[in-house]
Amino acid sequence: MHDHGAPPQSSSRPSSAGTGARLMRRKPVEALVAEGGQGEGGSLRRSLGLWQLTMISIGATLGTGIFVVLGEAVPKAGPAVTVSFVIAGLTALFSALSYAELAGTIPVSGSSYSYTYATMGELIAWICGWCLVLEYGVSVAAVAVGWGEYLNELLDGTIGVTIPDALSAPPGDGGLFNLPALIVVLLAMAFLIGGARESARANTVMVVVKIAALLLFCLIGVQGFRSGNYADFMPLGMAGVSAAGATLFFSYIGFDAASTAGEEARNAQRDLPRAIMLSLIIVTALYVLVAAVAVGALPWQEFTDSEAALAGIMKDVTGDAIWGTLLAAGAVIAIASVVLTVLYGQTRILFAMSRDGLVPKVFSRVHPKSGTPRVNTVIVSVFCGVLAAAIPLGQLADATSIGTLFAFALVNVAVVVLRRTRPGMARTFRVPLSPLTPALGFGFCVWMMGSLDTVTWVVFGVWMAVGLVFYFSYGYRRSRLATGATSVATGAASVATGANSEEK
Ligand code: ALA
Repeated sequence: MHDHGAPPQSSSRPSSAGTGARLMRRKPVEALVAEGGQGEGGSLRRSLGLWQLTMISIGATLGTGIFVVLGEAVPKAGPAVTVSFVIAGLTALFSALSYAELAGTIPVSGSSYSYTYATMGELIAWICGWCLVLEYGVSVAAVAVGWGEYLNELLDGTIGVTIPDALSAPPGDGGLFNLPALIVVLLAMAFLIGGARESARANTVMVVVKIAALLLFCLIGVQGFRSGNYADFMPLGMAGVSAAGATLFFSYIGFDAASTAGEEARNAQRDLPRAIMLSLIIVTALYVLVAAVAVGALPWQEFTDSEAALAGIMKDVTGDAIWGTLLAAGAVIAIASVVLTVLYGQTRILFAMSRDGLVPKVFSRVHPKSGTPRVNTVIVSVFCGVLAAAIPLGQLADATSIGTLFAFALVNVAVVVLRRTRPGMARTFRVPLSPLTPALGFGFCVWMMGSLDTVTWVVFGVWMAVGLVFYFSYGYRRSRLATGATSVATGAASVATGANSEEK
């Protein structure tokens, strides 16, 4: 079915409208889709299938959250940490449904940035894109720091040496700089420069290893299971369970990473929604299983040595330190794949923003041989590497969650707006019970944001202020919609063209 609506209402003339209208200028869905893959001087290569896309999302999701943050959440919720994982998973699920619908409809690299550009206008799109830098760029740095800690544990368990503090901690934390964190980011950069397909292959291997490590943990941990550990299921009440849920939300960040691969997917409209939903289901099942085994094997009051909780359980149950070392090896690989895939996502989001003129053109330059944005990859990697090596991330890392939740909230709004403005568009996946489900998704995001502390909100406010200064001094004038290089969607609907307009 074709999109019925108003006649063409897009304009390719440079905008002469007032400031308000300029900030609201929207990019037509057709323009977004038609430009897919195109960069400065070349095109991205479409090489990724459903399997790789699912692995990208799992790769970006499964890491520090389950290996490190679980240990911090148990003291808050007790054995009911399993319920906390479900609550955080529900928040992710509602938003994942909206992501799936939009990723199937607008399968481009910009992810939620592009969805908001098509539905809520340029200013909101910029704000969303700026939040995604928190979700992706800053979290790469935070996750890389966690990687360094596990590497030390692995080195200690295997060869009995650790990297000294001076070289494994930033200045504010008693060191000179964090070398391992820098190394893992540079390693990820080397893969990404090689090509999306090569990176996806490496990621797939790492995902298989990390799932195997967690399943091994369950197999061994279950032998130490004592039902008495569940006797006091919710020692700190529902408040503790929801506080732990907010902490654990971090472990779900990344399921949307497949949506940043829209321009390198072979069949993006079909595969992106499936990859997003599949990865979330697999990850949630694993989280609940691992948490259930962990609190069954170790009384919740003993989860004080948070970083090594899972490794400690392996050691206690078997009586052999080798299992803890094995788990540390699994964690090193797990977290490396988060760094790789999240770094990938950040480069692709900036690629889309650059193509739209909101950030410099250099970010959308494609290397003719590898079919990847190499310069973009190097700039982003150096930025993340330096951040990880030199800055104690502290509250900035906490800001990852607030930025992500803000972007998720916008995606829940975008899906409803697009249903209203473009009801007849092709949708390979539809959110059930819309607008109720997106409204619930929005509500969950706001609830979770509300449970973050004041300092995090202040950091977020400063971050947004910096972003707005950048937008008004650069993107506002250089946007391709401002220069007339791309037509502006000015009405409630514009005529759909091509395959994308076919209702399936
Ligand atoms: N969800 C990702 C992790 O847990 C960020 O490492």
